[in-house]
Amino acid sequence: MKIGIDKIGFATSQYVLQMDDLAQSRGADPEKFSKGLLLNALSISPITDDIITLGASAADSILTEEDRASIDMVIVATESSVDQSKAAAVYVHSLLGIQPFARSVEMKEACYSATAALDYARLHVDKHPEAKVLVIASDIAKYGAETPGESTQGAGSVAMLITQNPHILELNDNTLAQTRDIMDFWRPNYSTTPYVNGMYSTKQYLDMLKTTWLEYQKRFETSLTDFAAFCFHLPFPKLALKGFNKIMDKSLPAELQEKLQENFENSILYSKQIGNIYTGSLFLGLLSLLENSQNLVAGDQIAFFSYGSGAVAEIFTGKLVEGFQNQLKASRLRELKERIVLSVEEYEKIFFEEAVLDEAGNASFANYKTGPFALKEIREHQRIYGKVND
Ligand code: HMG
Repeated sequence: MKIGIDKIGFATSQYVLQMDDLAQSRGADPEKFSKGLLLNALSISPITDDIITLGASAADSILTEEDRASIDMVIVATESSVDQSKAAAVYVHSLLGIQPFARSVEMKEACYSATAALDYARLHVDKHPEAKVLVIASDIAKYGAETPGESTQGAGSVAMLITQNPHILELNDNTLAQTRDIMDFWRPNYSTTPYVNGMYSTKQYLDMLKTTWLEYQKRFETSLTDFAAFCFHLPFPKLALKGFNKIMDKSLPAELQEKLQENFENSILYSKQIGNIYTGSLFLGLLSLLENSQNLVAGDQIAFFSYGSGAVAEIFTGKLVEGFQNQLKASRLRELKERIVLSVEEYEKIFFEEAVLDEAGNASFANYKTGPFALKEIREHQRIYGKVND
């Protein structure tokens, strides 16, 4: 059975921080960010636009009424969860009006878990061919003001509908994961921001890529010549570029090398304007590739490198389906330009705001701009979400 991504949607916050402004404020050379990290801007989310509202917005942009009536599983992959018990997927299920007889769960392993969610979704559809699974990768990447990771923050969600006979990408069966117990990036329950061994994390990312890709090629008797594009987890685009250079085979025909290079450049366009969105960043790379590449055709194979600190990596692949272009949007980069530009002072205030609860567990918030959904208030420790105009 052919199973894969039938639809893909994206949402990010309505506010943005320009890297040049951050560089000026932190006394850094702007080229350190624009050339050293390949980042131009970071999406900044206010307290009322969290992983649930962003995830619901991303999904809302692709779902029809028929989809809402037939989705039977909702998975939210995240590492910036808002609750230790209740799954974000339950809130999202409710906000989207999905039929009640559905399973809703949250999955975690740093930036990797959306890939595990895709695997689970695929197995579910394989067993129940009429099923539709909504996989949402949703995160807000916060390292803290004036930390080394500050320049690689971001916020956003990617939503994917997984079905049989998909309209965008058929997932192939060949996948290979690797697990390594390392401390490159982690966030204990008592901390709102992660602990990071930055340089070590980049080395691990690249080594997990190299070793998984080598083994993948051996096990499945394949090589780069079989692929039209390679998408990477994008903590910041420069690291993915290093990964791309690591796997590039210089003995390939120049034409193929150029095609892969061009497609790599297209896969990082959105990330450059948004920053790291953890679980969603690999899939944001796919969206950016599909919406900007001029050379992809149905039947092209795409490889994916998923990486989550801690660490789990996976390489998987998929094949583009006839008519995939009809499921995409041409206006995404223009829409990103419409975000409200924040000064560094405003960003520090908005991005790191924490709810101030009264004795009864109530909190209210300023009226920030969000997408179609917002966190309206906290009432007796319960997060109350709704449509912005209700
Ligand atoms: P840093 O101290 O900001 O930067 O740390 P740096 O000094 O290493 O410089 C960065 C690059 O800019 C270097 O390029 C410099 O040479 C260059 P490279 O040598 O690496 O090619 N540079 C300049 N270029 C042009 N003009 C200049 C200039 N100055 C310097 N004037 C670091 C960077 C990534 C360590 C930091 O931002 C960080 O800790 N980020 C968070 C961790 C991270 O993103 N790690 C990535 C791998 S782990 C991962 O992917 C998982 C993750 O997504 C989490 C999860 O799984 O949940 C993070």
